[in-house]
Amino acid sequence: MPAPPPDARSFRSAVVSVTPCGDDGVLLRIRPERELPPVRASRFFMLRREDALSPAIPRPFSIYRQHGHELEFLIKVMGKGTSALAHSVPGTHLRTIGPLGNGWPTLSGGGAPWVMLAGGVGSAPFYMAIEQALRGMDGARPAALSELHFLFGAARSGLLYDVAAFERLGVRVHTATIDGSHGHKGNVLALLETLQRSGTLPERLRVLACGPERMLEAVASWCDARGLDCWLSLETLMGCGVGICNACPIPTRREGPRGAWPNVKCCVEGPVFKTDEIALHTLGH
Ligand SMILES: Cc1cc2nc3c(=O)[nH]c(=O)nc-3n(C[C@H](O)[C@H](O)[C@H](O)COP(=O)(O)OP(=O)(O)OC[C@H]3O[C@@H](n4cnc5c(N)ncnc54)[C@H](O)[C@@H]3O)c2cc1C
Ligand code: FES
Repeated sequence: MPAPPPDARSFRSAVVSVTPCGDDGVLLRIRPERELPPVRASRFFMLRREDALSPAIPRPFSIYRQHGHELEFLIKVMGKGTSALAHSVPGTHLRTIGPLGNGWPTLSGGGAPWVMLAGGVGSAPFYMAIEQALRGMDGARPAALSELHFLFGAARSGLLYDVAAFERLGVRVHTATIDGSHGHKGNVLALLETLQRSGTLPERLRVLACGPERMLEAVASWCDARGLDCWLSLETLMGCGVGICNACPIPTRREGPRGAWPNVKCCVEGPVFKTDEIALHTLGH
């Protein structure tokens, strides 16, 4: 039975700052009451305010950045839980559970380039992924700047959250917006194809993606058709985050490495899955 990660804890944090970001987002910086070792990119924390403003069920958020003792999250305001967090003030107390989940695979240098596809707030798990790849992960060879391509897509420029921060990391940042207000006009997959046609990106790639489910489905089938290795970080609805409530089932592929086991739990077995493991298109829509 998959279990929560052994380093996960429930603890209290104090809000340090809440800074508006993009049209409908905030950067939420918190100071946990206990110091955390470096967290792998694309792991997540469950957050809720300790007062009655937050729903009883905490909400999951990818770690965006870690600054010494402090954690930062990039949060798009969707409903009650995210709104309560966005209206926090310095000193507001948050119940914090984590770090949870598995995180991205090791982003080693020296192979096919890594292409990171982000849709809107799906950019959150990529900032530290880039930092960690450049530094070198798990004893693997560090990636060079030229081996990392960050493709950031959104409906409009105001939803390309904190894009300047990604540019400052020094990697190649390519943007796409549906309304053409920033970068390529179209979606992030069309941008990827354009970059391949122009010779900026080769045919052989290693792909990571995070964003809305429809985008991830499209990315998964695009990579499947080309036989490319692809990992998705899923933002499924969650309840407990620790494997108890069964709110986060993801259907598996019968022919995949999970075999006949019909579902995996996104919270404790993900949120990152390789596309040959899961069957996104069978999720309920
Ligand atoms: C592992 C993981 C990491 C995540 N990381 C981030 C992050 O870094 N930044 C961020 O802003 N969000 C992230 N999310 C999504 C975030 O958890 C939800 O947006 C949040 O739970 C919404 O809570 P709410 O109470 O504000 O909205 P609710 O009141 O619960 O819902 C408001 C509306 O949003 C829809 N909704 C809620 N959650 C989701 C979702 N996950 N996907 C699509 N629609 C949804 C609901 O169906 C409803 O229509 C992550 C989710 C997961 C599972
Ligand atoms: S969120 Fe409760 S089991 Fe995954």
